[in-house]
Amino acid sequence: MAVELVKVEHINKSFAGVSALTDVHFDLLPGEVHALLGENGAGKSTLVKIISGVYSRDSGNLTINGNKIPGNLTPHSAQALGIGIIHQELNLCPHLTIAENIFLNREFTSGPLLDKKKQNNEAGKYLKMLNLDIDPRTLIRELPVSKQQMVEICKTLSMNANVIIMDEPTSALTDKEIEDLFKVISLLKAEGKGIIYISHRLEELSRIVDRTTVMRDGRYITTLNFKESSLDEIISLMVGRNLTEKFPRIETSCGEKVLEVKNLSASRGPGLKNVSFDLYRGEILAFAGLMGAGRTELVRAISGADRISAGEILLNGKTISVRTPIDAIKNGIFCAPEDRKLDGLCVKMTVKENITLPNLDMVSRFGVISPKLEQKRSGAMVANLRIKTPGIEQYVRNLSGGNQQKIVVGKWLMRDAQVVVFDEPTRGIDVASKIEIYNIINDLKRNKIGVMFVSSELPEVLGMADRIIVMCNGRITANLDARKTNQEEILRYATQYNMMGDNDLETKTRRF
Ligand SMILES: Nc1ncnc2c1ncn2[C@@H]1O[C@H](COP(=O)(O)OP(=O)(O)OP(=O)(O)O)[C@@H](O)[C@H]1O
Ligand SMILES: [Mg+2]
Repeated sequence: MAVELVKVEHINKSFAGVSALTDVHFDLLPGEVHALLGENGAGKSTLVKIISGVYSRDSGNLTINGNKIPGNLTPHSAQALGIGIIHQELNLCPHLTIAENIFLNREFTSGPLLDKKKQNNEAGKYLKMLNLDIDPRTLIRELPVSKQQMVEICKTLSMNANVIIMDEPTSALTDKEIEDLFKVISLLKAEGKGIIYISHRLEELSRIVDRTTVMRDGRYITTLNFKESSLDEIISLMVGRNLTEKFPRIETSCGEKVLEVKNLSASRGPGLKNVSFDLYRGEILAFAGLMGAGRTELVRAISGADRISAGEILLNGKTISVRTPIDAIKNGIFCAPEDRKLDGLCVKMTVKENITLPNLDMVSRFGVISPKLEQKRSGAMVANLRIKTPGIEQYVRNLSGGNQQKIVVGKWLMRDAQVVVFDEPTRGIDVASKIEIYNIINDLKRNKIGVMFVSSELPEVLGMADRIIVMCNGRITANLDARKTNQEEILRYATQYNMMGDNDLETKTRRF
């Protein structure tokens, strides 16, 4: 048998006395894609951070290319040993160009001078490898999240690593970008490189994965040959029980019209063109479409994050003016945004502060914050959503990615809402927690709140929504009964304007 590229035995790791990894095992062979699977907070990112020198281990053995590593690695020494990592959260400098980010700290020089031309050319090669037609001199902040993610991938590829760790590489990618990434993964495999692949998008695994290691609550559960196991089996190993129903749809009737959007237009990004729709009390209205179809722009317009250029928004039959997010909140329109780090959370504050910040009035008495109420309300939210944290005083940046997302979604739910808007609420969330988020959405429905719900995952759109609006190029192309449609029909409408020659969707970038 070939020597393992990475071998991990009996690894333990705690953070401030709370165990994150207990006696974990893992190994990676040359030429294999090894998936690391587990629920949010299972310890996947912690394990790969130990392998890549970001965190130190408390005890246990780490062997790279057959050599035992006596102490701890640093990111630098791990890189020198051929370990590259694409982190779950983006780590790029927004004010630098693509090429500058790819070669940060490894700049191309000619004598004492920076050789920008060579650097740009080299960066161009990696962009091409991923089929990206973007100028390497483009600033990162001008790219949409999906393209930023692709730049992160280029950066790791350029380090010529033998072991490539991908922590949720596809959660923000378009289908086409995922295709391109998978092609590169096949090439890397053929070259004998090893890939550690972390993802909650379980459906995509069968395309690339050879073996999988399942973790639960910081412990090693088992390692399986992927082709010899079923997805249901893997899911029950991950969550420790059988999941009965993936989409717990409830059938309650809808009430009166709560929101009416008439001829809305906006010019940000791909823009919105003459968008009109109604939303009823207790209705779950999903918005489907490809990346760049205008769904996030619609959410931003309705929640006051962007100005509209024309059109009207009516709430309970009355025209309202939503010029700022505060206007939206005052009217009872709440939004859980797509980019949690940028718009949804204060990662340097605690769990409690993040939950109570938009709800200060509810934890105050006579204008003064009551620590007791704060404790009670945020404690209840953590329990209801099963947010995995050692306590409400934990900093949000120390939570696992999926648990951060639960706070983004959950913090608004204490309020009296008319309309709640979710933008990709289950991105990066494990199968069992997804069901918890669906249950939150169901609770809103039971309480006769109107729910708007943007999602790129068609099974969840079909499984949870009452009605589906399909968008393409800033326009509505279909308004479908979710119980009577299917993926093919939705995709047909989602690409309608593409097929008519207007096929520049992929290259359109949303400006941040
Ligand atoms: N720097 C840190 N300080 C304190 N606790 C941490 C830190 N990093 C991780 N943890 C804790 O360790 C546990 C494992 O987190 P980890 O990020 O490894 O989970 P994960 O499996 O990657 O989850 P997800 O799928 O949500 O990304 C979590 O309970 C998390 O709160
Ligand atoms: Mg993680």
